[in-house]
Amino acid sequence: MARGLPEGGKLVTFELDEKTAGVAKENIAHAGLADRVEVVVGPAEKSLAAMTGAAEEGTYDFAFIDAFIVNNVTYMKECKRLVKSGGVIIVDNIVQNGLVADEAKTAALKAAGEETSYIEAGRELLQYLQSDPDLEATTVPTADSRGFDGWHFVLRK
Ligand SMILES: C[S@@+](CC[C@H](N)C(=O)[O-])C[C@H]1O[C@@H](n2cnc3c(N)ncnc32)[C@H](O)[C@@H]1O
Repeated sequence: MARGLPEGGKLVTFELDEKTAGVAKENIAHAGLADRVEVVVGPAEKSLAAMTGAAEEGTYDFAFIDAFIVNNVTYMKECKRLVKSGGVIIVDNIVQNGLVADEAKTAALKAAGEETSYIEAGRELLQYLQSDPDLEATTVPTADSRGFDGWHFVLRK
């Protein structure tokens, strides 16, 4: 992503864990991209909310969401605020082997004591995307040896 930036472009990335952020910073520096990538350490929901004002709001071309799934609606709302009209927001890991569309299986997992909050969060995000007239979304499925998943491609109108 950083290599694809136009002259003068910047990429801001968010990481909760300090150690992981440190590894990211090292890799970014090793790739010679430190001049255009900023790593913000802390909960992304707070860091994003702090990005206010004309220099931030409606200025980004693209956002990629791939953090704590339960917060995806919050991330989406913040990214909608920061991304310009015509920009794109991608959200990863939203099909979850079809569980997002399978309420009966989710209920069975829950009854068996399994964690289902990430599945419910997937549904919550779909409902939000459907309700927001400023966003147009589609789901792109993916499959690999671990099963099938996918990402939402969201156009900021
Ligand atoms: C699936 S990984 C991201 C992988 C990355 N997109 C990539 O392709 O290499 C999720 C990351 O989000 C971080 N994370 C989890 N909760 C977060 C939060 N509330 N704010 C910021 N980062 C968070 C985790 O520490 C983890 O490094």
